Amino acid sequence: MALWSGRFEQDVDSFTQAFGASLPVDKQLYAQDIAGSIAHAHMLAAQGVIATEDAEAIEGALNDIRAEIEAGTFVFDVNAAEDIHMAIEGELIARIGDAGARLHTGRSRNDQVATDTRLFVMERCGDLMEANIALRRALMVQAESNFDVVMPGYTHLQHAQPVLFAHHMLAYTWMLARDFTRLEAARTAAAMNPLGAAALAGTTYPLDRFATTDALGFSAPIPNSLDAVSDRDFLLDLLHACSVSAMHLSRLCEEVILWSTSEFGFITLSDSYSTGSSIMPQKKNPDFAELIRGKSGRIIGDMVALLVTMKGLPLAYNKDLQEDKEGAIDAARTLEDCYRCAAGMIATMTIHPQAMRAQLRRGFIAATDVADYLAKKGLPFRRAHEVVGRLVLECERRGCELDGLSLADFTAQSDLFEEDIVRMLDLDAIVDARLTYGGTGRAAVKTQFEEAQQRLAADEERI
Ligand code: ARG
Repeated sequence: MALWSGRFEQDVDSFTQAFGASLPVDKQLYAQDIAGSIAHAHMLAAQGVIATEDAEAIEGALNDIRAEIEAGTFVFDVNAAEDIHMAIEGELIARIGDAGARLHTGRSRNDQVATDTRLFVMERCGDLMEANIALRRALMVQAESNFDVVMPGYTHLQHAQPVLFAHHMLAYTWMLARDFTRLEAARTAAAMNPLGAAALAGTTYPLDRFATTDALGFSAPIPNSLDAVSDRDFLLDLLHACSVSAMHLSRLCEEVILWSTSEFGFITLSDSYSTGSSIMPQKKNPDFAELIRGKSGRIIGDMVALLVTMKGLPLAYNKDLQEDKEGAIDAARTLEDCYRCAAGMIATMTIHPQAMRAQLRRGFIAATDVADYLAKKGLPFRRAHEVVGRLVLECERRGCELDGLSLADFTAQSDLFEEDIVRMLDLDAIVDARLTYGGTGRAAVKTQFEEAQQRLAADEERI
């Protein structure tokens, strides 16, 4: 028999009961549902709406139910209860009778589900922020322990200019630092209290919404009851934060995959983050990096699904909103797993500086610096660019690199070239000369590393 059996003459059939149920998903919110109910019951008692003994009986029985759920002895049955709210309330009433039947005074499942979901999101954001920090730390350790390694920097995936490997690793820590900020903002958005909005319009009981706000750790009650029960922006904020971060991880993993090919050979993944092939004995595949790249599609899909669900909904609660939780829970769990996997993979990969250096010797990677050399001697940069372009063409004809040219070859293109051009071709010197703030010169990267460390420590305080 449903909780609304008074109004109905027939039960729904078992297929529609199961189709309409959200219990398989929202049973994960049991702890938040119980916390919300205990706060509501005590507030009702404090306001003189129910007796204090009733509130105490409610709390006692709800604590027992929570312990049984956690012990795995509580039986969830979709035929008896379509969602976590009804499962717990039904059991409460079965145990303590009328006291339990008073709990739902001045409350609706509409404000209840919004409350539970918000509390759940607040907690999950904290978990994600922690996992985000762990991955950033792994990237920082790789940056620090390979601080002097120079690698080719790319644009269009073509050799562009040499950069420090540490600089490349740090680029990802800044992306992840922005993701941290987004996750924190999603937590702030979730921390508004819908409880007391009841079904949609508020209630005639003298509820103290500020009391439940404090009891549950929210920052303020939501000022509009219609908005309180129908707003899911906080889930979209979470899903957006997860999607952007998953996209960042996907880019990182794409590089890991590329770098571990025999064509690049820049890194070797540890055996524990690789798999073999069932047919090709020689294979060592970067499966986990590929899987993280693949899972980003799923997380982005979760975000798009909720946006589409929301876009046609009139105020206030509509059953469509029941579709809000599965994707959000999935996205948060998937991203947390991806963070963990990526952190382990990055921490255990081996860097091959020699392979990076070998690639540095190809692709005329010093060309910009040769042009800068001429420009610093007074030749307008556009002219210098042309001169070096001709030198590169000459190299291509001869099948050599810029350091294969003689001083005479250089001076044939411009009489501004002198002996010191040879020094200009030294890759470490090229890297170190880029001392602009945020640049790849060793001294600049050192400063950047310290800033990233400070940011990490500050973020850790915010979890
Ligand atoms: N299971 C529902 C959900 O997740 C709870 C709210 C149901 N409210 C209603 N009026 N049917 O959205």
